[in-house]
This record gives sequence, C-alpha cells and structure tokens, in this order.
Amino acid sequence: MEIVPLSDAVGVEIKGVDLREPLDSNTLEQIEDAFNEHAIILLRDQDISLGQQKEFAQHFGELGSRNRPGKKPNELDEYGEHVMLVTNVREKGKPIGSLPDGEMTFHADTAYFEFPSKATMLYAMELTSWGGNTLFSNCYTAAEELPEDLKRRLDGKKAMQVYEYGTTLKMKEKYDRDNFPHYAHPVFRKHPESGRSALFVSELMTEEIVGLPKEESDEILEALFEHQKKPEFVYEHPWKVGDLVLWDNRCTIHARTDFPRDERRMLRRLTIQDTKPVVEGAVPYKQAAAE
Ligand code: OGA
Ligand code: MN
Repeated sequence: MEIVPLSDAVGVEIKGVDLREPLDSNTLEQIEDAFNEHAIILLRDQDISLGQQKEFAQHFGELGSRNRPGKKPNELDEYGEHVMLVTNVREKGKPIGSLPDGEMTFHADTAYFEFPSKATMLYAMELTSWGGNTLFSNCYTAAEELPEDLKRRLDGKKAMQVYEYGTTLKMKEKYDRDNFPHYAHPVFRKHPESGRSALFVSELMTEEIVGLPKEESDEILEALFEHQKKPEFVYEHPWKVGDLVLWDNRCTIHARTDFPRDERRMLRRLTIQDTKPVVEGAVPYKQAAAE
C-alpha cells in the first residue's frame, strides 16, 4: 500500500488496495489514519458491488439513512435506505436519482441537521465526456489562514445552516426556514479526531452568523465564501470510472462543475452517520434521537 498526496490543498490517493478482497486490520488502520489526517481519500480502479462498497464504508461508522422523520421513505427500494444514486439518468423524463444536473455551489452535506454526516462516499460508475468535477476545499487551512481580526470577530459565534432540497446553486437571498431543516453550528468546528478547528460555513447552506446585524453578517459571509474558493485550499477531482472517494464532511466542503445534460453521469453514494456531537460534550446522536 502506498499513500500519495492528491494536491497541496487536501487529500491523498491510496494505491495498492483492492476492495474486492477482505482488508486486514493493519491495512484498515492505515486507511483510517489517512482519512483522519488528510480528510479525503481516493482509491482508483475499483470494480465493486454495492455490497462491497457498503462493507468498506462501514469501517468508518454506521451508514447514514436517507429516511427522515416526517418525510416519506426513500423510494429507491431497489437500492435501500442508505444509497443515493447521484445521477442525471432519467426514465420517462424523471431523474432516477438525486442531484441530477450541472454545477453545485460549495456545501457540507446535511449541515442543516444537528448531526451532519461524518463522511460521504462516492463511487463513479458512468461519467460525461467533460466537466462534472468535484471540488474539495480544506476547512482547516481556510480557518487557519483567516485574518486575525476576522478570527477574533467569529470566535465563539454560530452560523445558521439551511437548505431547501433540490437546490444546488445558491441563487436565493433567503431559504424558507418554516418549511426546511436548519441548524446553527459553531463557525469554528473542532474535529474530534484531529483536534483541529475547521471553518464550518458554506455558500450553499450558510445564511447568517447568528447574533450579528444582517449587513455585517452578509459582508463577513461573502468574504468567507470567497476565501474558501482560493486555489491553495482547493483540490479539483476529475473523475474516472472506478474511482472511489471518501471525504470527511466535518472539515471539508465540496462543489461540482457543470457537465453536459445529455450525457449520462452516475455515482453511487453512501454516507457515514456522525454519532459524536458537533460541540464537545453536547447530547450524542443516539440519545438525541431517543429524546
Ligand atoms: C454529493 C455531492 C457532488 C458530485 O453527493 O453530496 O455533492 O460531484 N456530489 O456529484
Ligand atoms: Mn454534497
């Protein structure tokens, strides 16, 4: 096994691992360490079934469910409650999966919940002839490289994360908080494994810094979103069929470039549920679910 950087910004490629074979504990430990240290891991040329993908994902925690209280259960019965097909493939004009078309603005997955996903895994099955790259921005270095005065102004503050399902580009000033999930998380989120602070805001989902006047909040957020896009924080992944990428959703945000609507793109997606609270010492996941 060999571990090589994907970029100066974030992420590593892990070479010499075939996910069709059972992994010994030493290999697994190295992979887990690489994930915790580098936030994004890529394994290329994998030819795996859904079962094999799930088995690998489960080493990082329990699979995230797509079913939500008060929402009708996931209709993709064939794939089950844990799987999302990220695809523009349509049957009778209707997408058979989620996040079908085009560009996506930077975001962290399910940041609008109390317990956002710990990690997300995409496995590339079909790709378009151009575009559809996924960009990853390193929220640790983005936090560290902020000007000191901004760090001080944001210290101890929370940011409101909101999302309207199906929105992939930030176009609106405000989302409809009466009808969509939202949650205020610390602007600087401490990662439970690394102990480092990550800048946990994103253009698609963060609407305001709680407790600041609107004008000041808007101005700061705009500056933060521009900061997060700086090339020194970003790795852009050009997908190849067979690529498997797992990203740490606690310390990275991601976006997607445009791609042709009339060519097929399909990635098989699993998430890992975070069972630790975002804020150290807060109510843990199982307990919160039971309350
Ligand atoms: C996701 C996502 C980006 C992509 O699956 O959460 O944002 O490249 N996907 O399709
Ligand atoms: Mn996403």
